[in-house]
Amino acid sequence: MSGTQQRRWHVYPNRDALVERAAAAIARIADAAIACHGNFNIVLAGGETPRAIYARLARLDADWSRWRVYFGDERLAPAHHPSRNSTMAWKEWLHACPAIEVHPILTEHGLAQAAHDYAVILNGVRFDLVLLGLGEDGHTASLFDTMAAHTNADVIAVRNAPKPPPERVSLTPRSLSRAENVLFIVAGQGKREAVTRWRAGEMLPAAVVCPSNGVDILVDGEAYGQTS
Ligand code: 6PG
Repeated sequence: MSGTQQRRWHVYPNRDALVERAAAAIARIADAAIACHGNFNIVLAGGETPRAIYARLARLDADWSRWRVYFGDERLAPAHHPSRNSTMAWKEWLHACPAIEVHPILTEHGLAQAAHDYAVILNGVRFDLVLLGLGEDGHTASLFDTMAAHTNADVIAVRNAPKPPPERVSLTPRSLSRAENVLFIVAGQGKREAVTRWRAGEMLPAAVVCPSNGVDILVDGEAYGQTS
């Protein structure tokens, strides 16, 4: 984890272009990781923005047996509940690619147990790619303030999230920052204020993910403030 966040902005005219280019970037990183390591470890983002990207990945022609899927955060909800980030990924993509090795965060076991168990699962796992979203308040994963930047834990329980549900499990900046590649996926007018604050250098929760290779932020014109 480096000190300051190096950011590379990639602005696309609309959400469809963003989806296509994000899926292409994921496929490219996957091919490189498989060529180098024999497999590809990806940490998925939650929320709604990545939904269309996951649906697009389902149409890729890939050797899915080389792919291992993890999650950057998960909400407290019963297994397979529609509000869970893992359920969305399953519905849009993973159900169609059964060869993929999937590691959900089992929040149904309780927050503390799920955080502990996931840290054990992640121990020693190389992150080739971490996907992250951006909230309208500048949060990412389930990191709603910058306090988690000071923890040595890799996975934490979150009990006061302002975005429902309040109870979640999240990877920490320390964990997310060990990734070889970090792609933020940001779209829509509602994210413009957070993007503007981020570009101005404000220390948002999204700004404390500081991998050594920097972060790539794939954003549409609406969120970036560049409407043609
Ligand atoms: C969640 C996500 C969260 C999400 C952002 C953006 O559990 O909701 O982990 O961090 O990525 O809130 O959400 P949208 O893509 O729905 O705007």
